[in-house]
Amino acid sequence: MTDFCKRLPPPPFKIKVIEPIKMITRQERKMILENASYNIFNIPAEKVFIDLLTDSGTSAMSDYQWAGIMLGDEAYAQCKNFFNLEKIVQEITGYKYVIPTHQGRAAENLICYALDLNETKMVISNQFFDTTLANIETSGAKTRELVISEAFNTSINLDFKGNMNIQLLENIIRKNNNVAMILLTITNNTGGGQPVSMHNISEVSKIAKKHKIPFFFDAARFAENSYFIKLREKNYENFKPREIAKKMFSYADGCLMSAKKDGLVNIGGFIGLNNEELARKIKERMVVVEGFPTYGGLAGRDLEALARGLLEVLEEDYLSYRYQQLQYLGKGLEHKNVPILIPIGGHSVNIDVRKFLPHIPQSEFPGWSLTLVLYELYGIRAVEIGSVMFAHKQEDGTWRFPPLDLVRLALPRRVYSQEHLNYIIDSIGELYENRDKIKGIKMIYDPGILRHFTAKFQPII
Ligand SMILES: Cc1ncc(COP(=O)(O)O)c(C=O)c1O
Repeated sequence: MTDFCKRLPPPPFKIKVIEPIKMITRQERKMILENASYNIFNIPAEKVFIDLLTDSGTSAMSDYQWAGIMLGDEAYAQCKNFFNLEKIVQEITGYKYVIPTHQGRAAENLICYALDLNETKMVISNQFFDTTLANIETSGAKTRELVISEAFNTSINLDFKGNMNIQLLENIIRKNNNVAMILLTITNNTGGGQPVSMHNISEVSKIAKKHKIPFFFDAARFAENSYFIKLREKNYENFKPREIAKKMFSYADGCLMSAKKDGLVNIGGFIGLNNEELARKIKERMVVVEGFPTYGGLAGRDLEALARGLLEVLEEDYLSYRYQQLQYLGKGLEHKNVPILIPIGGHSVNIDVRKFLPHIPQSEFPGWSLTLVLYELYGIRAVEIGSVMFAHKQEDGTWRFPPLDLVRLALPRRVYSQEHLNYIIDSIGELYENRDKIKGIKMIYDPGILRHFTAKFQPII
């Protein structure tokens, strides 16, 4: 057991249904890795003991949500669950038009279409998520990431490390008259689940309005961002997370939502916005690629579970427990001297791989190696957010590696207990003691775009 002594408060829920998990032998895991071409995305999920690959679509739903599933109205058009979802999203966000999508990336694709993105245009973000980047780049548009520079230093402790660099934003917009959208990711997943402050949001909003540029949120983790504002930003401590969320949304023209995170559902998403013309374009395109605009690629039951999840995710008891679980995991690892990105993020704890494995060069993908060893030795699946995911080949044929090499331990919502967290802390602590034995890895197949999902590797012996 871990010697990290701080205890978590009891969770604000009790268990009604369980899903067994099983620890297989190390020998079996070794074979599985080989068969998976050393890509953790190819490992059968039932062969994983603790799955920290993602917090996306992995939440445990409540009895209230499951009850809603039974109330699914599966009519093709105008099902009653849509109207319930629409009303709840309108109340939470204040946006007039609510368009369901089957997940976040469909929402991204639709907004790229509706804004007529092409080679002549540019989209600015604090930092893009990988699918967002892929959708925008596929349209031909240019991208700029303007998160504050401190975001790239894993040991600077800042309350709002997901903030946009406002000065730079203003400068870039002045120099380029082709900015088609500002997309602020709350919280910033790519930078380790770091929040954006209300002040920063309001500054971005001012600039967007001044230059008449559409301003949207990538709102996948809007509730976690709201809770950070409550905890850390002056004058918000007495506000309810729901009130903070409403204020945040009021600064933007709309949002793209992957509801698989802060919708507390296993599938779903939506676009919320005020602009009638954009909404019309999106709805017309929807019919071709997602489905009729009142179901957007989802079943009526999914819409109902989402509507209910959006109410639960803003409950303060839930958000407080979620925050404390992440703190417990992160502090437990720090207690074992494991180098992590600070401050601890809203949905994940991120290991700073360049400090964990300084002997492995980025060209040998140290983060990827770490995820493989973590699985082989302890049955834990985590994900690399670093050189495999974000390295770019330059025009001269050499590689440009990202400034951060992280291994993300993403915590599913309402799924794991303190005992599971203790197991994770002890395992990674032990691995850190033996880090000198870990070796790099060679990529033998590179599919190009979003390569982490399908690349193949071979251990360097
Ligand atoms: C910040 C952010 N935006 C967008 C997405 C894409 O959402 P989806 O997986 O639902 O397509 C993700 C997924 O992890 C994300 O973290």
